[in-house]
Amino acid sequence: MTAREDGARRRSAGGPSRRQFLLGGAVAGIGAAAAVGIDAALRTRDDAPVSAGDEGTRAQTVAFHGAHQAGIATEPQAHGAFVALDLRDGVGRDELARLMRILTDDAARLTQGEAALADSEPELAEHPARLTVTFGFGPRLVERAGGRAPDWLGPLPAFEIDRLRPEFSDGDLLLQVASDDAMTLAHASRMLLKDARSFATVRWTQRGFRRARGTVRPGSTQRNLFGQVDGTVNPVPGTDDFDGVVWSDDGWLAGGTSLVLRRIRMNLDKWDELDRPGREASVGRTLSNGAPLTGSDEFDEPDFGATSAIGFPVIPTFAHMRRARGDGSERIFRRAYNYEDDDAGLLFASYQADVARQFTPIQRRLDEIDLLNEWTTPIGSAVFALPPGCDEGGFIGETILAGAGA
Ligand code: HEM
Repeated sequence: MTAREDGARRRSAGGPSRRQFLLGGAVAGIGAAAAVGIDAALRTRDDAPVSAGDEGTRAQTVAFHGAHQAGIATEPQAHGAFVALDLRDGVGRDELARLMRILTDDAARLTQGEAALADSEPELAEHPARLTVTFGFGPRLVERAGGRAPDWLGPLPAFEIDRLRPEFSDGDLLLQVASDDAMTLAHASRMLLKDARSFATVRWTQRGFRRARGTVRPGSTQRNLFGQVDGTVNPVPGTDDFDGVVWSDDGWLAGGTSLVLRRIRMNLDKWDELDRPGREASVGRTLSNGAPLTGSDEFDEPDFGATSAIGFPVIPTFAHMRRARGDGSERIFRRAYNYEDDDAGLLFASYQADVARQFTPIQRRLDEIDLLNEWTTPIGSAVFALPPGCDEGGFIGETILAGAGA
């Protein structure tokens, strides 16, 4: 057993009790997890020999603490779960502060490969595989916390294309959990839900996937289940452009952002009936490498003015890319996951500083007309405010819950 494992076990067995923890002040003192950057994150966690490739995946950690929550600018992990909770009656500001302190502590430990307090399966916490936990607040939570809800926090306006189902929509508290390892993700979600149980009930869970790590070149744009290269035109994390699009500078949300999660069913059987030129025309990009129909490389600038020999636009007027871009003044950061349950589609996850100013006008344009609508149907929709990150000893949500629940 390594010293780290030993420490984690001793902590879960004989460390400060939940009661002590709830009484406050314990967070900083309980062997708080080290914030390790991705670069410095290769660590061996048990004595079993592993191949170099395995080591690269399973032991990597993403720092939990910082100005922004992890899991947004983080290069998307292979598995993602979005879990929405509904607060129980009587959960007010003090209980919310306690809940967020507990969940923050769980997330800070689990993401660094440490067992959560009172972890019933501590061995399952050992291989974080870039685990991130990201928290989001719905309108009712913000109201109970006594904060001012941004005007966009709540259901989106109704769209013609929507066929929304309550079991995939809305919610008070979002847990976005992602990892390159599905076991790690399942364990982390369970630990968080166990600790949230007396405060909230699960409203819905939506799981998605991307390519397994190591299958495609890191940093390459993902494909969706239509086979399209999806995510080409997107702000690049680590740039001023990304920061401007994504991070809010508004009150308690400053350093945070918003998430719009749309569950969009993709009719694969109907898509099968469409020939390749038709498929490429629907978006305005090739299927082979995602290049615009007027170019040859994925990142070539599309020429929206180009016309064919008989005078038609090469990128059709109602192509998804053209409609989504509009005049280019509204921008969002897309970080989608594919899903396949009873049906198949996209967990379209979009992050932006201001939903009403950035997301809604794009969705409105696509609602009016978009060739892709022929094969896609939004069946779930939820909007959350994602508070800023926190430092060691702090907790997610402290910017509206400060002073409560101590
Ligand atoms: C299942 C539904 C959807 C599919 C399959 C899909 C697919 C695609 C594909 C293949 C592209 C081109 C490559 C790229 O830049 O990523 C694209 C671009 C884009 N999509 Fe979607 N999309 C879907 C839904 C949406 C929704 C709901 C929105 C926003 C409301 C959206 C916004 C955008 C934006 C902003 C772009 C970039 C446009 C530009 O070139 O400036 N998409 N999408």
